[in-house]
Amino acid sequence: MERTLIIVKPDGVQRGLVGEVIKRFEARGLRIIGMKFMQMSRELAMKHYAIHAERPFFNALVDYITSAPVVVMALEGTNAVAAARQTIGATKPHEAAAGTIRGDFALEIGRNLVHGSDSVENGIAEVNNFFAADELVSWSRNVDPWIFE
Ligand code: RTP
Ligand code: MG
Repeated sequence: MERTLIIVKPDGVQRGLVGEVIKRFEARGLRIIGMKFMQMSRELAMKHYAIHAERPFFNALVDYITSAPVVVMALEGTNAVAAARQTIGATKPHEAAAGTIRGDFALEIGRNLVHGSDSVENGIAEVNNFFAADELVSWSRNVDPWIFE
């Protein structure tokens, strides 16, 4: 079972799209195992986006992600990482397919609404960066056998 970290970024929260985003991941079949509303510290933002530290957009990215509250979710499921990335859509929203979150609700790369982990390894690491062990719930849904074969 893979894990992925999903963040409804500040623009998603400000625009009232939290429910819309959660709805799409729930509908996809992913199981929520952790969720919180928080404002990210610069320290945590820099750790989360450390891979981009040398990129010219890094400071703007940290400014953006720390500018207002976010909703952070840990989701679990078979193929959770790739499935969530597909539901989110391409990084550049103007290239994202219609039907994806970015394709339906965003226009610019610096306001692309949602984060999703980009590998199985990063899914595990990012969930651990944002959630303490006692903030994650191990549970199963009655519907799980109808989603996970
Ligand atoms: P994310 O990590 O937020 O889920 O987005 P992603 O995987 O689709 O894209 P990534 O390459 O990891 O970039 C992280 C975020 O940095 C901002 N960005 N700006 N101005 C630029 O050229 C540029 N490139 C990336 C975006 O907010 C992107 O989501
Ligand atoms: Mg990324």
